Amino acid sequence: MSLILVNFKTYKQATGERAVELAKICEKVAKEEDVEIFVAVQNADIFHVSQEVSIPVFAEHVDPVTYGAHTGKDLPESLVENGASGVIINHSEDQLELRYIENDIKRVRSVGLLSVVCAPTAESCEAIAAFAPDYIAVEPPELIGGDASVSKSRPELISDTVKRVHAVDSSIPVLCGAGIKDHEDVRIALKLGSEGVLVASGITKAEDPEAALKELIKGLR
Ligand code: G3P
Repeated sequence: MSLILVNFKTYKQATGERAVELAKICEKVAKEEDVEIFVAVQNADIFHVSQEVSIPVFAEHVDPVTYGAHTGKDLPESLVENGASGVIINHSEDQLELRYIENDIKRVRSVGLLSVVCAPTAESCEAIAAFAPDYIAVEPPELIGGDASVSKSRPELISDTVKRVHAVDSSIPVLCGAGIKDHEDVRIALKLGSEGVLVASGITKAEDPEAALKELIKGLR
């Protein structure tokens, strides 16, 4: 089933109590429309959100530390205990050097968390595919948060990423994101081989997030 991952980032509309409300909307739409919707929330909101919804809740950040003296770090085991199902790694707003990505993937898998690893180019996605994450998401940074979508502005990036990733490991679902706003963006992404989309501002900043989500879902049909 194709996936819509709604990344709450640090948007005010998706922080604290509002994160819970938005996650409930995502859950409602997922159930009513029978589609797969994950939410990625600020780590401080994971416990509260995951208590209130049954859809998968992802962390936006993890540190590959172990129990002990690591002040200020986000321990993978803690994410699990607080209700996370997975984690976004290497988002363009939270980048890592390639050499640390493999370790993070292994570390989160060891505690049962899924990994969605982001990267800006088809080449970097290809390199990450060798580390066998659960999902790879290509997101061109210059389009993130804007009105021009990756689907319409950089369609070749999606097809090239799918080709390169699947040449390494055909079992890894490829996602894409940046500027996704309507069903046409989703439809084009899927047609190009993407198995879902990451979306943030199109939902978090929408006047009516439920209507905005339902609009995206039309592209899955
Ligand atoms: O992780 C999703 C994200 O970076 C895309 O953001 O605001 O362009 O949908 P946005």
